[in-house]
Parts: sequence; structure tokens; C-alpha cells
Amino acid sequence: MLWRRLIRVTFFKSPLSSKLSPLKLLTLQFAWIIPYLFLTNYLERSLLPFRLLCYTQSNFLGVNTPLRDDLRSCVKSFFPVREPDTDCGLNQRINARIEPRIVEDSHQRVVVIRSAPKSADYRNFVRRSWAPTLQPEVATVFVTGLGNDDALQKENDDFGDILQLDFVDSYKNLTLKMMAIYGYILREKPNIQDIIVINDDTIVNATALHQISTSSGETYMLGKVSRGYPRLLMWWLPWYVPGTMYPSMCYPPFTQGSSFIITRSAAQRILDGICEVPAIHLDDVMMGVVANCLRVELRHNEGFDHHTLDEFVVFHYQYSRFSAAEMHALWRRSGLDGDRRDPSGR
Ligand SMILES: *[C@@H]1O[C@H](CO)[C@@H](O)[C@H](O)[C@H]1NC(C)=O
Ligand SMILES: *[C@@H]1O[C@H](CO)[C@@H](O)[C@H](O)[C@H]1NC(C)=O
Repeated sequence: MLWRRLIRVTFFKSPLSSKLSPLKLLTLQFAWIIPYLFLTNYLERSLLPFRLLCYTQSNFLGVNTPLRDDLRSCVKSFFPVREPDTDCGLNQRINARIEPRIVEDSHQRVVVIRSAPKSADYRNFVRRSWAPTLQPEVATVFVTGLGNDDALQKENDDFGDILQLDFVDSYKNLTLKMMAIYGYILREKPNIQDIIVINDDTIVNATALHQISTSSGETYMLGKVSRGYPRLLMWWLPWYVPGTMYPSMCYPPFTQGSSFIITRSAAQRILDGICEVPAIHLDDVMMGVVANCLRVELRHNEGFDHHTLDEFVVFHYQYSRFSAAEMHALWRRSGLDGDRRDPSGR
């Protein structure tokens, strides 16, 4: 969720540089803990009554039942007075500037890794760790927005796994980025049935992923489904959503954005319908509303967005962004590195 990301950005992106003394480094590494505990404690305590309230609203708990059957009245019941934005550009065609070569006709699944143009270290971590353990029908593609073009082109010459889309990659454009990814795959990759969307600071358990089978034509999103989340009323927090934007106290169930599987037909339905729904700036909440009204089923799987190194499908530590080197160490600790197919790491 957004607030977790925010805590991460606020407390964890301290500008650690190798010039710091070990002691300073150690202190800096733990400096976030106290303010962080205060903040989460405060949030949890003030959220609890609202969570209880939301758990009594059966309307907002059903994972597979839309609030109203017909799209128009479903949207109206979430947004009684707001109309869909007239300048909604979310379903626009966004072209590719750099395209991956490695997605072939034999691939039915693609792991799409959202990556910043400059994060080559994380991409190399993925290439050298879990990507080679995936089944042959699964391709891995890194998706970025504009920036760092020459280096990305060179990287794509070497690995063929970069998709650069023509849009400004900013936090506010996250929903646009998702729609651009869906649009590209739907247009250009007719054989892909499942899109697995993840962040670059994750570890994928190839065996577990393989065991989650999907049959073509189904319309769902699968991941960690959160239910009973209240709308935050604390206006000083960035994940605050005003009643004029979204009037209800509770959100419908939504899938955590760090890792999930979306089927081709679900991606198509969301892309076709997204502009019928007024926008909310929290992208996973927005997807929850959209999925509800467009009848995209949400399937819960505890192994996604998993923050311990056991029994996971996708490991992701939500409270902090580990460095690429730390991700490597975690990968070795997970014991999954025995599964790799190609020891050269390519
Ligand atoms: C989102 O991307 C579009 C297309 O590249 C760009 O025009 C717009 O400025 C971006 N918005 C933000 C908030 O970055
Ligand atoms: C990977 O997935 C398999 C199959 O679900 C499971 O048995 C194993 O414990 C998982 N490994 C880790 C490290 O989570």
C-alpha cells in the first residue's frame, strides 16, 4: 500500500554512502526504528476501530461480488456525485521505445518487473538469481519509463529483456504505467495468458509459481487480497483520501500491488473499463474499485507479498528496500539457488 511505501521512502532512503564510518553506518541503519514504531503504532491504534467498522460492512468484504451488477450503477454506488474524469488518459496507447526480444511465441506467461531506468543493479540481481530458475514458458521483462535511454539500449542489446515505454515514470503515474504494460502485452504478445507483475526488490519461488495454474479465458487477479481497509481521515497523511474523492468509509477488497498475477482477459477488461471509473490516487485501492465493478475476480494467495523467507511465492519486504547486494544474500539464504538451471547466471 501507499503508506508503506511512504514510510519506506521517508525513513529508509537515508543517503548511505560508503564513506561513512562503520559506527555511523550502524547508527543510521537503525535510526528509523523508533520513529517508525511510533508511527505504525499510532496508525494501528487509530485504524483499529475503523477496521472493525469496515468488517461489519458486508458490502465491502465480498471478494467476488460487485456492489451492483451493472457497471454504471456500480460506479454510481461508489461515487454518487463524481463523474468519471473527462480527461482520463489511462486507456491511451503508449508506445514502446525499447522492446524486449526474449518474449517468444512459446511463452504463455511473462513476469513483468517494474524497474527504474537507473536500477541496473537490481536487474542484474534478478538476472543472476531467480530469473534462470523459471520454467521455460515464462519470460522475464523489465519495464521502465523514460530516462537513461542509452544505457538501457545497451542493456537491451546484451540481454533483450527491457521494455521502455514512452511516458514519464513518476509515482503519480503508477496506474498509467500498469495500463501501458497491459496495453503493450495485449497488442504485441498474443500468446501471453498470464501477466505476473512484481517489483524489482523481490524473489520469486519458481516452483511455487509454477504450481499456480491458470486456465485460459478466466478473468481474475491473484495475489495478497486485503479486506476491511478504512479510508484514512487524517488529512496530514499522504494516503489520505478526501470524501469528495471517495465518499465511503471503507474500501472494497484490493490486491497488494507489489506482486500479483493478472490473466489476459482481466487485463483486457480493466484496460477497456478503467476510464468509466473516477480516479483515486492510491493505485491498489483504485484497482480494487475497478475490479469490483468490472467483475474481475480477486483470488487470495498468502504466498504473495510475503516478507519471510519460507513458503513464499513472491518474497517482498514491504518496510524497507533492500540493496541489490542484500537481495543477493537473501536469495542465497532462501535456499532456492540450488534450483537454478544455468550456473553461468545468464
Ligand atoms: C504522466 O505521464 C504523462 C505521459 O508521459 C506525462 O505527460 C505526465 O506529466 C505524467 N504525470 C506525472 C504526474 O508525472
Ligand atoms: C517454494 O515453493 C515450494 C512449493 O510451494 C515450497 O515447498 C517451498 O517451501 C518454497 N520455498 C521457499 C523458500 O519458500
